Amino acid sequence: MSSGGMTVLLLGSGGREHALAWKMAQSPLVAKIHVLPGNPGMTTNDGRIVCIEGKIDDIVRELKPGLIVVGPEKPMAEGVVDRLETAGFTVLGASKAASQLESSKIFSKEFMLENGIPTAHAVTCDSYDDAVAAVKTWDIEGKGIVIKADGLAAGKGVVVTQDPTEAEKTLHDFMIDTRHPVKAKRVLLEEMLLGREVSAFALCDGERFIPFGYICDHKRVFDGNQGPNTGGMGAFFPKDWPSDAALTFINEKIFSATLRGMNARGTPFKGILFAGLMVDGDDVKVIEFNVRLGDPETQALLPLIETDIVPLFLAAAQGDLSACGAPQISNETAVHVVMASAGYPGTEMRLGEKITLTPNTNDNTQVFFAGVKEKDGNFINSGGRVLGVTARGATLAAAREKAYAGISNIFFNGAHWRRDIGGQ
Ligand code: AMP
Ligand code: GLY
Repeated sequence: MSSGGMTVLLLGSGGREHALAWKMAQSPLVAKIHVLPGNPGMTTNDGRIVCIEGKIDDIVRELKPGLIVVGPEKPMAEGVVDRLETAGFTVLGASKAASQLESSKIFSKEFMLENGIPTAHAVTCDSYDDAVAAVKTWDIEGKGIVIKADGLAAGKGVVVTQDPTEAEKTLHDFMIDTRHPVKAKRVLLEEMLLGREVSAFALCDGERFIPFGYICDHKRVFDGNQGPNTGGMGAFFPKDWPSDAALTFINEKIFSATLRGMNARGTPFKGILFAGLMVDGDDVKVIEFNVRLGDPETQALLPLIETDIVPLFLAAAQGDLSACGAPQISNETAVHVVMASAGYPGTEMRLGEKITLTPNTNDNTQVFFAGVKEKDGNFINSGGRVLGVTARGATLAAAREKAYAGISNIFFNGAHWRRDIGGQ
């Protein structure tokens, strides 16, 4: 362990933050990573990672971190990056104004249209009556419809359907039913895109970006993409896809165009830009923007990155990536499988179950913890997505085999996971 080095503060508590802490802890530049609030699984194998509680303003005053990394979108949408930068800290994350790319689907859609960024056709409805009227004229059975609530909804504010009754019920759920978890004053009705989805990342300094890799995730809860959407049940690196032409298009027509457009608005984008894309051959369209790394994409991506990411994060946070190149990505692939609590993604979950882990003898796998707490010296599950296992391998089949071998060493009552992660 180095005696000098920098203190890093990481905000967040999930599997994405565990992977970030694990990767940053490998940097010789870092002495200690404090995670606010983190989860107890993060500190198991690494003495350089500590979890802390308390108010962020008090914590930064005391720790004086050399770098602050914000994991999730919510604190960014609430302006935490603006506040910490004003206080003189070096922060990797999006400003409140720039996080509208994720926090408002309507802002994001208008921004894409104004800047010629390819995306699905959409109409905005400001009232329930307008939305019902628009849905009635839509060829739902023929072409499908996507209904999106405006505002952050933790992945639950989007319904894709070819059933007119479900479309009308969704509008009622989002806009009228006060007991429904998603509440929207405005909705976006969108053309249903076809193709394969990929999450592409760019590390941005406000003006420039470096490509930061891409990963596929599995959003539906059950095998074969059945059942409701979740935050993500697993992820994998599609080594031989998208095509080089599609990747060039993504850099030029999506990432560059977004940075230019955000600059022109006076709201430069600094941090990690996440483009959720639908790719159909060389045709690429943006489904959504996020202002952070993906969860669980990060847990598959970071174990494949061979470069030290801390100097890259620092350069981006300091606003100057001009001397940095894209990180080196391994020529292996990786698969990450999530274990979830019984009931997830519903609201009635079976929590508080003891988690048993058999010591891992396979040094090609890594467990990343998310919804866990400590009780009487054991981990118990405390959230929907509990943990996940990442394995690297020369092929997807090899990586899958190791990841599932890792899963078979872990047990808790009610655990469920998909059996087809990385099966494409
Ligand atoms: P979002 O929260 O916007 O990422 O939407 C969640 C999921 O809904 C996406 O990952 C897609 O699987 C699906 N989705 C969203 N918009 C569209 C669209 N226009 N066409 C097809 N699928 C979509
Ligand atoms: N896995 C998708 C997301 O992080 O939004």
